Order: sequence, then C-alpha cells, then structure tokens
Amino acid sequence: MTSDVLSRRFTVRPLAPDELSGRFLGQALWVFAGALEFPRRNSRVLSFADTLRRHATYAGFRAFGALNVRGRLVGFSYGYFSQPGLWWREQVAAPLSPEERDDWLADAFEVAELHVHPTAQGHGLGSQLHDQLIQSQSHRTAVLSVMHRSQRARQLYTSRGWETLVKDLRFSTEPGTPFSLLGLRRPSHRLSILEQEG
Ligand SMILES: CC(C)(COP(=O)(O)OP(=O)(O)OC[C@H]1O[C@@H](n2cnc3c(N)ncnc32)[C@H](O)[C@@H]1OP(=O)(O)O)[C@@H](O)C(=O)NCCC(=O)NCCS
Repeated sequence: MTSDVLSRRFTVRPLAPDELSGRFLGQALWVFAGALEFPRRNSRVLSFADTLRRHATYAGFRAFGALNVRGRLVGFSYGYFSQPGLWWREQVAAPLSPEERDDWLADAFEVAELHVHPTAQGHGLGSQLHDQLIQSQSHRTAVLSVMHRSQRARQLYTSRGWETLVKDLRFSTEPGTPFSLLGLRRPSHRLSILEQEG
C-alpha cells in the first residue's frame, strides 16, 4: 500500500492530556491490551487506567495519537519530564553510576508508552508516534525501558539512534521480565559530544 493511501487511512496528531486520559481512555486500554497481548480484563490493563490518568498530570506531559478514518484511536505515545522521586526514575537510576545519572537524567524526557494495536501495526504509525513525540520536547536526553521480547520496538529505537545504557534491567514489580534501559541525546548535543571526542 502506498504512503499516500495510508496517509488517508490514519492521522497522527497531538493529544491533550485530558483527551488521552478522558474520551480516549477506553480506546487507549484497548490498544495497550492488544499491543502487549494481554486479555482486556487483565489486572495490568485495568491498573493502566489509573497510571495513565496520573501520568497525564505530570510536568512536561506530551502525547500523540494515531486515529483511523472513523476517529478511533489505534496507537498512542506519551512521555513527560523525568523528575527525581518518581518510581520509574528511581528504578532505572539505581544501576547507573553517578556520572551516568548526571549525564542521562539531569534534563531528561521519559518516553513512558508507545503502542500500536496489532490491526494497525507495520504501516509506519509507531515510527511517526515516536518521531513526533521526540520532536515535541527539547530536553537534553530522552530515556525509556523496553522489554527484551519487544523485537519490533527495539528495531525502531535502534534505527533512530537510541543507545543501550543498561542491557539487563529488572523492575522490582516484575523481576522475572528482562528489560533494557535506552537513552537518546538531542541531535545538537550528540554533535557536541562527537566534536569533543574528535
Ligand atoms: C513497537 C510498535 C509501537 C511499532 O509500531 P508499528 O506501527 O508496527 O511501527 P512501524 O510500522 O513504524 O515499524 C517500526 C519498525 O518495525 C519494523 N517492522 C515493521 N513490521 C515488522 C515486522 N512484521 N517484523 C519485524 N519488524 C517490523 C519496521 O521496519 C520499522 O523498523 P525501522 O524503524 O527500521 O524502519 C508496535 O509494534 C507495538 O505496539 N508493539 C507492542 C508494544 C511495544 O513493544 N511497545 C514498545 C514499548 S517500549
């Protein structure tokens, strides 16, 4: 299918915090459950509703949605300014050295979620949701965690310059699931590091 046909089937646009945590919340849970292959009534899916409502109140919150022609949400991405004391931030900071924390977390954007429902995957929507989210903020770095088993997501991040900061990261809530911590520098900052090294 050509990109022209696809661009008529889907629209990617910014979502206000109260859109994603309000009128689109049920559809976001449907996307989340489908993308991660959880049953719709799974406790992870149900608790994600509260998580999303809480995240939508965080400083620097930015969200994007992919909508089909009927206006239904088929994918979304969001993140916010990383602040000390937030649960995820404390978990990922633990295995980093003080220098790495300074470097990667002092002025960072946390990419919290990026999901496309399986019925809409493979058409470039995940890439657009990623790119627009990253371009919407101006922090020095961005950070995220990705499951080892999420091969397509890892491919997407690698092709966009994300670096592996911690290869095997375990969260206290699910120690049996291996994640990696990835980091991305703003292009201008990446350039100045290369100049320093050169
Ligand atoms: C990761 C995800 C968001 C990608 O969404 P998508 O709309 O399918 O993404 P795209 O079509 O833009 O493709 C993304 C990359 O996957 C590759 N890809 C697409 N279809 C693929 C397939 N069938 N098999 C392997 N790779 C594929 C694309 O080539 C692209 O790679 P590139 O960046 O090198 O070009 C989606 O697969 C998803 O929701 N996965 C489950 C949830 C998840 O893992 N989220 C990430 C949490 S950190």
